[in-house]
Amino acid sequence: MKYKINNICCIGAGYVGGPTMAVIADKCPNLTVDVVDINEERIKQWNNKDLDRLPIFEPGLSEIVERCRGRNLHFSNFIEEKIRNADIIFISVNTPTKTKGVGAGKASDLKWVEACARQVAKYAIGHTIVVEKSTLPVRTAEVIRSILDSSLKHNRKENKSSTFDVLSNPEFLSEGSAIKDLNDPDRVLIGGENTDSIEALSDIYKNWVSKNKILKTNVWSSELAKLTSNAFLAQRISSINSISALCEKTGADIREVSRAIGSDSRIGSKFLESGPGFGGSCFKKDILNLVYLSEYFGLPEVANFWEGVVKLNNWHQHRISKLIVKRLFGTVSNKKICILGFSFKADTNDTRESSSIAICKDLLEEGAFLKINDPKVDPDQITKDLDINYQNDIYTSEQKSTANEGWSFHRNIYECAEDVDAVVVLTEWEEYKNINWELISKSMRKPAWVFDARSILNSKKVSSTGLNFWRLGKGSK
Ligand code: UDX
Ligand code: ADP
Repeated sequence: MKYKINNICCIGAGYVGGPTMAVIADKCPNLTVDVVDINEERIKQWNNKDLDRLPIFEPGLSEIVERCRGRNLHFSNFIEEKIRNADIIFISVNTPTKTKGVGAGKASDLKWVEACARQVAKYAIGHTIVVEKSTLPVRTAEVIRSILDSSLKHNRKENKSSTFDVLSNPEFLSEGSAIKDLNDPDRVLIGGENTDSIEALSDIYKNWVSKNKILKTNVWSSELAKLTSNAFLAQRISSINSISALCEKTGADIREVSRAIGSDSRIGSKFLESGPGFGGSCFKKDILNLVYLSEYFGLPEVANFWEGVVKLNNWHQHRISKLIVKRLFGTVSNKKICILGFSFKADTNDTRESSSIAICKDLLEEGAFLKINDPKVDPDQITKDLDINYQNDIYTSEQKSTANEGWSFHRNIYECAEDVDAVVVLTEWEEYKNINWELISKSMRKPAWVFDARSILNSKKVSSTGLNFWRLGKGSK
């Protein structure tokens, strides 16, 4: 029996749920897509008339929301009602790393997924396809299925007829290019057992994705492929960053090494840019999941191998703060340092696991005063990330940052660099590539340094203004 899909419900209006559902609504005008969330504020933001104030900034997203919202794309807090109406439910809730209990620091906390499964079990009617969309540890489908199955027994007693199928359909979107990735994915992965349910989900994607890009696997392969995909990408970054440290010692240049190895078609050129270390909500979490899973199944060598990728990343972030201190005569106490970029990469306002957090915390601990600029990140978010005055609600967000003793936020790059001993580039924002260094140099305290941890500045232009220049993977010679 083939399932007919009319109504889609997505639980969780976050970085994954929001953009993914917007694109599905855009590509499938015949389907009704409801995105629900327990967070009322977030839903209000999604329904904001001012499209510049959606909760997530993604190039191309506001245009789609403008086209589809109110037509076949709806954001609400009506979780029960929308679950009831749905033929297919996507679970896109948060799955942070556990902070306590078994697996703390490595395993994902599944309490939000579990709560969702219970809600689905309680309210769904008829046949419902439940799709794991959030990145989840392998065998989570089993957890969801057992919760749904236990509700079936209960339903039988109450003569309520509802049946379920669980599919894994991990998201590979990358922040900043989410809409592009969704519109033109390298592949769509669907893991499951019931071919009718797999076909029903596949039919949605077939509205814009060619058939040969839709890969069908068993549910465990799909879950594991997602974790492995992120682990491989992160591993490339740790690999190239480890070599950047060696370049600085030997006189080699990481950009030249990257280009040379990337031209080997077996290696390929993508994800070989050295930087301040990988951030984002997925890489660290997914690798630690893999580590936990390997330990759990008695494979310590496999666990150690992957844990090394995260360890190298942590070491690399601290390496950068240490070398800044070293070049500023071994102390940054009472020195001002300008930080350019706080998001974990360009074109997003997301700061989760951003290397800027680790590096700024190190510098604050060393006694520096930080002047921070980022074109998209809200200073309130920086306050939370640096954990200063976070509890103090008497300040507005802008006041809060200026009230901090350790740092201040500046919208203007030139004002941000005024009177500082060093400028540190941590995010590769486009606007940082065209800075007038002549102007900045005049307002900095000498001797002054520019640290380029993203390799985006023109070293000649910076150095010609009399500033000392250090670039990741090249050093300062
Ligand atoms: C990642 C995966 O790319 C995506 O497929 C998955 O669905 C979610 O996780 P995202 O976290 O948005 O996406 O960011 P990504 O572009 O992969 O970058 C992650 C981090 O690696 C960033 O901090 C980025 O600056 C860094 N990076 C990336 C490098 O340092 N060098 C590179 O060459 C590429
Ligand atoms: P992701 O990056 O995986 O999309 P986010 O943290 O950006 O994660 O978004 C997850 C969303 O899921 C949040 O907005 C959160 O409020 C929502 N959420 C978590 N649990 C539930 C639940 N049981 N019902 C509805 N929404 C939920």
